[in-house]
Amino acid sequence: MCGIVGYIGKQNAVDVLIDGLRKLEYRGYDSSGIAIVDHTGLNVQKAEGKLANLQEKIKDDNLHSSIGIGHTRWATHGRPSDYNAHPHTSQNGRFAVVHNGIVENYLSLKETYLAGEHFTSETDTEVVAHLLEKFYNGNFEETVVKVLDVLEGAYALVMVCADEPDKIIACRKDSPMVLGVGEGESFIASDVPALLAYTRNCMYIEKGELCVLTRDGITIKNHALEVIEKEIHAIEWDAEAAEKEGFEHFMLKEIFEQPAVFKKTIAGRIQGASVHFDEFELTPEQVQKWKKIYIVACGTAYHAGLVGKQIIEKMARIPVEVEIASEFRYRDPMLDEDTLVIVISQSGETADTVAALREAKKHGCKVMAITNVVGSAIARESDYVIYIWAGPEISVASTKAYTTMLIAEYLLGVYLAQQKGMPNAEERAAILDGLQNLPEITEQVLTDDYLAQIQNAAEGFKDANDIFFIGRGFDWAIALEGSLKLKEISYIHAEAYAAGELKHGTLALVTEETPVIAICVQESTYDKTASNIKEVKAREAKVLAIINEGDDQAQKFVDQTLSIPKINNFIAPVLAVIPLQLISYYTAKARGCEIDQPRNLAKSVTVE
Ligand code: G6P
Repeated sequence: MCGIVGYIGKQNAVDVLIDGLRKLEYRGYDSSGIAIVDHTGLNVQKAEGKLANLQEKIKDDNLHSSIGIGHTRWATHGRPSDYNAHPHTSQNGRFAVVHNGIVENYLSLKETYLAGEHFTSETDTEVVAHLLEKFYNGNFEETVVKVLDVLEGAYALVMVCADEPDKIIACRKDSPMVLGVGEGESFIASDVPALLAYTRNCMYIEKGELCVLTRDGITIKNHALEVIEKEIHAIEWDAEAAEKEGFEHFMLKEIFEQPAVFKKTIAGRIQGASVHFDEFELTPEQVQKWKKIYIVACGTAYHAGLVGKQIIEKMARIPVEVEIASEFRYRDPMLDEDTLVIVISQSGETADTVAALREAKKHGCKVMAITNVVGSAIARESDYVIYIWAGPEISVASTKAYTTMLIAEYLLGVYLAQQKGMPNAEERAAILDGLQNLPEITEQVLTDDYLAQIQNAAEGFKDANDIFFIGRGFDWAIALEGSLKLKEISYIHAEAYAAGELKHGTLALVTEETPVIAICVQESTYDKTASNIKEVKAREAKVLAIINEGDDQAQKFVDQTLSIPKINNFIAPVLAVIPLQLISYYTAKARGCEIDQPRNLAKSVTVE
């Protein structure tokens, strides 16, 4: 998704902007651009494709300025191109704008205020630059307020004016942005990694606030342009945590971080045989009141929700429905005060999930968030928040955020059961015990030997056109995540099926050309899954099975096995998904794919 950086201060803005945009590359983008104010007035440079294209374009220009804004774009309105790249300028070249989000009423704004004007791009953003020029009264701040009054949609906007080269103005509604406070310099970015090399002091911008960045500091104002006092927060993520630390790809580094982040997710939350959350406390009456739970999320977070449903239903005996966020809000779901809505989102900014959250609140539901990002829209707007504490996840394909979402769900399942007074104390204690052992056990699937087995298996998958994943119950839920991982980064068509459902249609596609990955970890469904494996074997498919250590049956009816260490079967999904992450990684690598930034995908999707 788009990235924004803005800088004013004593350094060459061009260097700070390019460096900041590089730190945001992980968000996914298709073009980039910068605008500085120099002796010529506004100087705008843009290029389609990777940031290196922009650097190549400007390398001989000796650009220099102490103020500028930059952007990496992920196309929404208009295809990726130089002319659609941001920054966009007004007709007279006085204003430049970078924007994340969508101006929903841009067509009607064009008709109402900008009829007859010439536009150089297909974007909604260019309308904002033209409006600034149209409404300009000699005062940049007042002009921005007038423009905001007519905009509808979601946005984070950062703007410069050639006539007032001592300030950058920024504002946001729904799209995230963070301010960096320096000495004699000020920064703004859509995401923290762009700031880390320069400052650890940051301020978060609320909806409707106007930020004026100057060399002497940052002033936040409300709609009436009255100054608002803001707290400065220290950023705790260190710069190293956002870099690859010697791994070839962020994805592999993040897979290897799992044992360490599992400890963080659990830390302080297990007290003896019970669960406690610092963030909130629910009374027994509150939990007993909830007759139904919806889990709403997108992508990998949705898959985490499918595991969460089974955890909560089993532990707390509350019926749970799991919904894709982009479907949920449009189908008039039956929500009331006796319904808890749980939204799951790594970034906390996914537009569809935010919209679902707001829909739930409109109906009087309490909303609980499971998220990774403190201060994100979803964290701010929810009644209760469980942070997964996974640290920055840079690879577009999510790994450690997924597994820590599962851990948060186990903690929540136990917590709801405990607060509700369920009689399953022994079962709960066993789960908590298993969670505490999980970090150490996970180390065992991250050894060189294990990786060698997986690389070997990946060689067998790399030339396949289609791969099926099968499993039942929890094993099916993680099969869905395994297949998403594989298609995201290797571009091999992959589908996951409930193993028992295969014979009702999809079995027609199974031949010796379609490898099958079977998850056979859940003891209660093992025999039934084994029967389904025999069905695909009878159609000549090659089968790799993920099994529990000590299973000496599977070898008899599959071609290859990968085992996971023995652990409490109820929490085994957290462990069993790791070989699937690694199979995707090594298959994509064997195919020469880009891995951390797969084509057409973005890390954080802030459009609906
Ligand atoms: C994008 C990412 C996925 C992610 C999904 C939901 O599509 O590429 O990896 O699962 O958004 O993101 P969220 O931040 O809400 O978990």
